[in-house]
Amino acid sequence: MRMSSRITGFVVLIMLALFVFLTGESASREIASLAEPGTPHKEISLGSALTAHLHNKAIHLPIGLAIVAFGLSSAAFKFDGFDQPARWCLLFAFAGAIGAVITGLGQAGVYEGGGKEWIVVAHRTAAYAMLGTLGVWTLFAWIRPLRVWAIVLGLVTMALVAFTGLLGGIIAHG
Ligand code: HEM
Repeated sequence: MRMSSRITGFVVLIMLALFVFLTGESASREIASLAEPGTPHKEISLGSALTAHLHNKAIHLPIGLAIVAFGLSSAAFKFDGFDQPARWCLLFAFAGAIGAVITGLGQAGVYEGGGKEWIVVAHRTAAYAMLGTLGVWTLFAWIRPLRVWAIVLGLVTMALVAFTGLLGGIIAHG
């Protein structure tokens, strides 16, 4: 088996573990809030648990993948074989970010006219900026002559991922 295939397999495993951990983390928070004393027990079906608040679920994938892609791109400066997995992570992160934007727009309506509307607007603007830089980063990583600049876009994207996520967390949890 070639070195890059082994690294790709390893990265996919790490990504899956990260995804399971992050979704488990958010699920346990919801369960904890349901179990608070005085909170009436709420029955939820598996169907509605899977389809409700899709944005809150979908965001973990692009965030996790973008972070892994950044780690791999950084490692590629020192070690051979990390470039290719980083590029694939970026491609899936970009596809996931499009999903995050679509589901986010679908969930933003409930905040219209409310006290958190301005945070939603800021979050949406940051998300569009992040989608843009992630797209350019992906493009630069795949086009050989532009590859040297990719890490700069990576740094900007990481900062925007953190800022967008922070604002999203404030919207969801106050
Ligand atoms: C047009 C784009 C987007 C819009 C309109 C939007 C809107 C929203 C809304 C309304 C919430 C609150 C959800 C709730 O009621 O619980 C939220 C949460 C969140 N969003 Fe976005 N979003 C967008 C894109 C993104 C992107 C691209 C990311 C990835 C970096 C992201 C990360 C988050 C995070 C981390 C949360 C908190 C989720 C939680 O703690 O459960 N959003 N977003």
